[in-house]
Amino acid sequence: MNKQAHSAKIHSSQPWLHQHGAEVQKFGTVRQFPVGLSAEARLYSCERLNQILADTQILYGLYKKHHWLMRGATFYQLHLLLDKHAGEQNELIDSIAERVQTLGGVAIGDPRHVAEITRIARPPNGAEEPPAMLSRLLEAHEAILIDAHDAARRTAEQGDDGTNDLIVSDVIRTGELQAWFLAEHLVDTPLVRA
Ligand SMILES: [Fe+2]
Repeated sequence: MNKQAHSAKIHSSQPWLHQHGAEVQKFGTVRQFPVGLSAEARLYSCERLNQILADTQILYGLYKKHHWLMRGATFYQLHLLLDKHAGEQNELIDSIAERVQTLGGVAIGDPRHVAEITRIARPPNGAEEPPAMLSRLLEAHEAILIDAHDAARRTAEQGDDGTNDLIVSDVIRTGELQAWFLAEHLVDTPLVRA
């Protein structure tokens, strides 16, 4: 585009479409942000947060899948409960991702990238029995909780109190509460006669 055409385009209201450029920050790197933490501490926290972020995105997906595929006598309450948990996990996803950005990192976002990194087992593409769906969700919760406890301790050791707080106050507390709600559905108790 010559200079005249370039200038004409700047002064028009034509959107600049189909723009492509170089990647300006690689995944797994941090920029220098003045938040009082070393680059090493921020890089470490971003790595741990991105693992939790990937696994939480998979957990969110599992919740929606099982919300849709629920069946049986307790369909309605489980359909609603799993969607409530999905919504809470979705909020966590945003908080964790924005913590990575706050530390100067790059939050994992594309689901194909998430699939490469997650440690949560892949479910069958079809439907399972409701108790198996709930067990699968509980296993995903426990995997995230084990990782989160370790990440919370180690990020605190590096001085990253904000990341420690997010992991403890949001990831761990939400995960533990949701695991309780799921586990109580797996108690084999009579419906009508004791
Ligand atoms: Fe729905």
